Amino acid sequence: MRDPKPETAPLSVIPPEQWNELAAAAVAARARAYAPYSGFFVGAAVRTRDGRIFSGANVENASYGLTLCAERSAIVQAVLAGGREIVAVAVSSGISPPATPCGMCRQTMAEFAEDCEVLLLGGPKGDEERRVVTLSQLLPQAFRPASLSRGKGPVGG
Ligand code: THU
Repeated sequence: MRDPKPETAPLSVIPPEQWNELAAAAVAARARAYAPYSGFFVGAAVRTRDGRIFSGANVENASYGLTLCAERSAIVQAVLAGGREIVAVAVSSGISPPATPCGMCRQTMAEFAEDCEVLLLGGPKGDEERRVVTLSQLLPQAFRPASLSRGKGPVGG
């Protein structure tokens, strides 16, 4: 049977005040987004296993394909600081219902999280609407680092 209230699923990996902290970091980062081409401003924040928070925003380019999404920008910050295990993510967009991460960002999360909860924030101010999903819901049967070791060797060998 379908979960009747997936939107109100309990936030389990971290306590509510830490979710609020993560949400605030995503909203603050959204104000720094560089999105002159799309006009679509996104902020993200990730919390690593050791409790640190890293934030990021989308950064566009006149060569459109170079655009960096908010989620990947936050993850890059975490990895550069040695944070390779992500336990929670918050994404703030100005739309309703809140935007979900794009496929490339989901795959990037899967590199650094076995699974994690993702708080989607939306609405005009970027945080009035809240919805929680898991990475495994967003990207079931993900291709993972462990998949590579199972495929090593010559083709057909
Ligand atoms: N964007 C993100 O930052 N994250 C996503 O998951 C989806 C899309 C950005 C990229 C681009 O700057 C703008 O939103 C419109 O696609």
